Parts: sequence; C-alpha cells; structure tokens
Amino acid sequence: MDTATPQTPDLSDQTHNVDGVLLRECWYYALPSHALKRRSTVHRTLLGDAVLLGRDADGKAFALRDTCPHRGTLLSKGAFDGREVQCPYHGWRFRTDGQCTAIPSQLADQKPQAQDIRALAYRLVERDGNIWIYMGARKEGLPPVPSVPNVGVRFQLHESVIFDCNIDIAVSGLMDPAHGAFVHRSALWRAADSIHEKQKAFSPLPEDEGLGWRMDRHPASKNSKAYRLFLGGAPETEISYRIPATRIEHAQTKKYNYCGLTACTPITAERTEVHHVMYWDVPGASIMRPIVRVLTKRFLDQDRRAVMAMQDGLAFNPPTMLIQDADTQTRWYFRLKRELLAAQAEGRVPRNPLMPVMLRWRS
Ligand code: FES
Ligand SMILES: [Fe+2]
Repeated sequence: MDTATPQTPDLSDQTHNVDGVLLRECWYYALPSHALKRRSTVHRTLLGDAVLLGRDADGKAFALRDTCPHRGTLLSKGAFDGREVQCPYHGWRFRTDGQCTAIPSQLADQKPQAQDIRALAYRLVERDGNIWIYMGARKEGLPPVPSVPNVGVRFQLHESVIFDCNIDIAVSGLMDPAHGAFVHRSALWRAADSIHEKQKAFSPLPEDEGLGWRMDRHPASKNSKAYRLFLGGAPETEISYRIPATRIEHAQTKKYNYCGLTACTPITAERTEVHHVMYWDVPGASIMRPIVRVLTKRFLDQDRRAVMAMQDGLAFNPPTMLIQDADTQTRWYFRLKRELLAAQAEGRVPRNPLMPVMLRWRS
C-alpha cells in the first residue's frame, strides 16, 4: 500500500491503464427520476443489455429486460397501460415484476401458459432524484446504493454526455487531479497559471458505503473560485469515489451546502454515459440553474474531448505509465476493480485493500 510516496513511476501497474472489463453485480446510474414519467416506459442499453425502464400508475419505477421472451421483440415498442407491458408483436403481456399474464395465441391445453413465462426484472432504487439499477443476478448481499450526504440539499439539475469510449477511459476525469488547469481552462473555474502544490489526506470508504476511497474533508482549493462565488465563503470539501464509477463531492460553508454526483454508466464496452447531478441549498440560487447548466455541459464536454484524445492515442497501443502521486487514484480504481472481480470469482465479500495515505501533487 502507498504508505511512502516515491517519486518514480510505478511501472508494475503500467499495463493496467485500461482493462476494459465491464463490472457486473453493481449499481449503475440509470437516469434521473424526472426522465421517467408515470405510465410510460423508455428503452436504455446498459452494459450491452436491452433494458426497459418504466413507471407504473402508482408512480413506482421498474425495469425489465427489454426483449420479449417469445421472439425477442423490444417490449418498449409495445404498449404500457400503467400496469402491464404488452409486446407489440403477438400481444404477450407482462406485469412490472416480469410475470407474463397473457399469451393470446395459446389454447388452454397448450404449453407454455402465461404463468410459465417471466421476463427478467432488474432491481431499481430511486433515491435523491436518481434511479439506480442493479446490473447483476445476485438477490442478496447487494452493495450499498450510492447516495448524496443527508445535508438538506435539493436536486437542482442533471446533465449527461455520451463518451464514445470504454468506461475505464471515461472515468479518468472523475479521479484525475492533474488535468484541470489544462482541460478546464475557464475564468470562473481555474486559471492555467494557478498550479500549486497540494497535499491531501485519503482514506478507504467505510464498508457500509461501498468499495472506494475518500479525499478527506479539507479547505477547498485556492483556485476554485466557482465555489467561493456560489457558496459565499471559503468552503470545505470532501470527495468520495466508489466502484464502479460514482464520485460524490460535498462542499460546505458555515451556511450552505453543495453536492455534486458524477456517475459513469457503460452503454456498451465502447460507449459510456457520464451523468452529472447537482444539489444545493443556497436560497434563491435556482435562478443560477440555466447558467450552471451551460457551464456543466461545457465542463463535461471538455472532459469528453480530453479522454477521446487519450483513446485515440491508446489505439496505437503505446507503452504508458501511472506516476506517483497524481495517478495514484487511477491505480486504486484498477486495483479495486481487480479486487471486486476476484471476490466475485471466489464467492466472497470484497475487501478494501486501501489504507489511509497522504498524496502530494501539483495542480
Ligand atoms: S415476440 Fe413478443 S409476443 Fe411474440
Ligand atoms: Fe475533468
């Protein structure tokens, strides 16, 4: 574990820049609650699976595999009356828990009958204005669902951008502390000449919060002007990262709170949706939403262009390296990924191998 901080590249990890594996048995951000209207369904491709997401007549969200068990037709192209989904091809009907309730073409003495058929149902949790989906088969011992700190903040906005790359590349921006001054040049956010030495304490997340780490609470960087303007003072921030791809930032002044949640969801192995959700409790600041939305979009697009340039370079299969300490969190990401895969293969609970450590870099 990184108890010392040698200044040489850690070459042992250089082959782990990208492993490309899509983790299963994990919660992923599916969509913001407001995107799912009552009595309606939408299609999403998540980790290469066709998924129908819906909200029933009582307002409860659900998710089914979006391919009909009969001949594979997309159920989301059919009808939904708020109780049952009907396949558009031969009219088989399914409850929101996946149970088939009607096979119109079957005679009473023929097999199968409706009760013999189920469409696969996914677990969903709706929390903090977000819908999380469990992409896995396990029924119990599920990892915790990510949630924003319980500090009275309200959901303000959601933006998402699609990155045409694997999640391993898309997540880079979530844990890379050294690209800000180069990728996110902006008068409001960072000045390119503001790079200075930083030292931050990190610790593993407690088990009940999932597999990950946190940058412990600390005074916000001198160069994050946006926070000061917005929260009206010098905030303290804490940032947590949990596998597979959720980063939660909490900034707090004596009066106000801001929370930002960023989550990456693989569409396929080559496409990833990056979601960013913002919460705050600054009174009257909802008028800021349109401008914050524009800035957020620009910010996400800056990350998108940066990682696309990395992907284009990696296509040449170059040797790469992960340096100390600026790339340490990227190493942790792959390390925790490997631990999760090993735990799944061995049928055990994953163990967080990280230890508290101080990291130093310039940014
Ligand atoms: S394909 Fe869905 S009912 Fe036949
Ligand atoms: Fe970034």
